[in-house]
Amino acid sequence: MALKVSVDTEICSGHGRCYVLAPEVFGADDSGHCEILSAIVDDSLADKARIGQANCPEGAITVTDA
Ligand code: F3S
Repeated sequence: MALKVSVDTEICSGHGRCYVLAPEVFGADDSGHCEILSAIVDDSLADKARIGQANCPEGAITVTDA
């Protein structure tokens, strides 16, 4: 099942745990804030998307069914 991944840029404060733990899905912009690399992920990256979501201290990442 495909998943939709998004980040609330108003909430992200640059902890970086998302892109350290799941660089296949999340990247960093010039200031260290999250950039979504794959807004829609398939099963092969679903676990990575959820790991990023679960480890953001700010709760900035949302993962939902696509
Ligand atoms: Fe931002 Fe959370 Fe990642 S604060 S850089 S979305 S771990």
